[in-house]
Amino acid sequence: MEFQLKHTFPATEKTGTVIVAASGSELSPAARALDEASGGHLARALKTAGFEGKPGQTQTLYTLPGIAAEQVLVVGTGERRDLDSRSLVRAAHAATRALAKGPRKAVSFLAELEVPGLSQEDRISDIVRASVEGSYRFEDFKSRKTGDKGLNQLTLAVAEKAAIPGLKKSLAWGQAVATGVNRARDLGNLPPNICHPVYVAEQAKALGKLHDKALDVKVLGEKDMKKLGMGAFLAVSQGSEQEGQLVVIEYKGGKKSAAPVVLVGKGVTFDTGGISLKPGAGMDEMKFDMCGAAAVLGVMTALAESGLPINVVGVLACAENMPSGRATRPGDIVTTMSGQTVEILNTDAEGRLVLCDALTYIGRYKPAVVIDIATLTGACVVALGKVVSGLFTPNDELAAALIDAGQRSGDRTWRMPVLPDYQELLDSPFADMANISSGGPNGGAITAACFLQRFTRDYNWAHLDIAGVAWLSGAQKGGTGRPVPLLMQYLKSRAQA
Ligand code: BES
Ligand code: MN
Ligand code: ZN
Repeated sequence: MEFQLKHTFPATEKTGTVIVAASGSELSPAARALDEASGGHLARALKTAGFEGKPGQTQTLYTLPGIAAEQVLVVGTGERRDLDSRSLVRAAHAATRALAKGPRKAVSFLAELEVPGLSQEDRISDIVRASVEGSYRFEDFKSRKTGDKGLNQLTLAVAEKAAIPGLKKSLAWGQAVATGVNRARDLGNLPPNICHPVYVAEQAKALGKLHDKALDVKVLGEKDMKKLGMGAFLAVSQGSEQEGQLVVIEYKGGKKSAAPVVLVGKGVTFDTGGISLKPGAGMDEMKFDMCGAAAVLGVMTALAESGLPINVVGVLACAENMPSGRATRPGDIVTTMSGQTVEILNTDAEGRLVLCDALTYIGRYKPAVVIDIATLTGACVVALGKVVSGLFTPNDELAAALIDAGQRSGDRTWRMPVLPDYQELLDSPFADMANISSGGPNGGAITAACFLQRFTRDYNWAHLDIAGVAWLSGAQKGGTGRPVPLLMQYLKSRAQA
């Protein structure tokens, strides 16, 4: 999708669609201008159609008198007092969906809406992001594609001409974030027979080639991991015919001497549970168990595109969790790279095993902050549903920064405890710890975080459990690209501080 900024008026724009908003029954300034130009036709037509201006509701109006555009698209934003970043994003998203079959060109007046707490820069980035994300399709494996006839040129109307040059970077930022989001969605949606660990590593290398000045990509195979003593990672990978891969992507946008932010993503390209086999129903969704790694690759993509002045290391911990004659058994004890031993009581608690070695490995970067991103526990979905991700960190300042980034990007997270009191639940009679809690599923998201905490004592660390938010099920099944928006917002705030 192409974007432009323009100082213009709604009634005289000769374009395919003019996009305007209505908060409940209240017309936005641009919608009111159209109503006046059409001699009251617009408001009457909306009334006849029963349009209520609910969030995300759309109404197309054709051939209005006195209006140059082919059609007018009115989008609901909900009540004006509730207007926020999310309702704006929802409106822009709905507008793009409504134009999925064309016309190809539109002029949107959504950026003119006053939204409490959002600058014009924010509004433009949000609308661009929502429009790109709204035009997303995943049809690689359909022999009949719906085809690309939809909106592909969006002009955002800006009230002041003089402001336009200064707003171009907001366009670029929105596009970079959306590109990262859609990249993460693509990787999540790919079937697990194609998207295996080596495939993810190849994708990372290809990204490194595309941005060879901005990114450095390095891939460790199982031999390398064996040398490093990554016994926990390899215990997950050993049951699979596919080789496990630890992908390290370095982005150096900041000062040479500045300590990096390190992002570590769980990249289990398929999670059968291993010998502790999962039940069959819905197991296909465990192809999304690499969405943490996909989000990290999405962030690295967005960083390279945006040129944000910050140093970031992205690590993708990719393995396939399969049952086989070579697979890990419940009861096996392994030694992690940190030297700590783990009794693997349940091979389905594999995420923490691939992550713990990756978290030890990245200690060498002397990171300023480490954030791991993982579809780690079903218990997190029980606790928080599919609305917010679970945030775990002993560091109040880091928690506040991530919660704020979630709020601002509309990709929200909610803090959960990581208290020492939970640690004893991980005691094992035979090893330094077990990989599951003796308390069973109770507090399962927390005990998983407490397991990771044992490997992150040397730096500032936060863990995002994205099991509930990384993909949608049912009719809308597909990757969401979360938490790429949250992470990009966090990195941007950090780069500006
Ligand atoms: N990938 C799953 C977590 C998951 C399950 C995410 C369902 C989203 C939806 C993870 O590897 C897992 O299997 N966790 C177990 C841990 C348990 C064995 C302690 C779980 O949540 O049941
Ligand atoms: Mn599992
Ligand atoms: Zn898993």
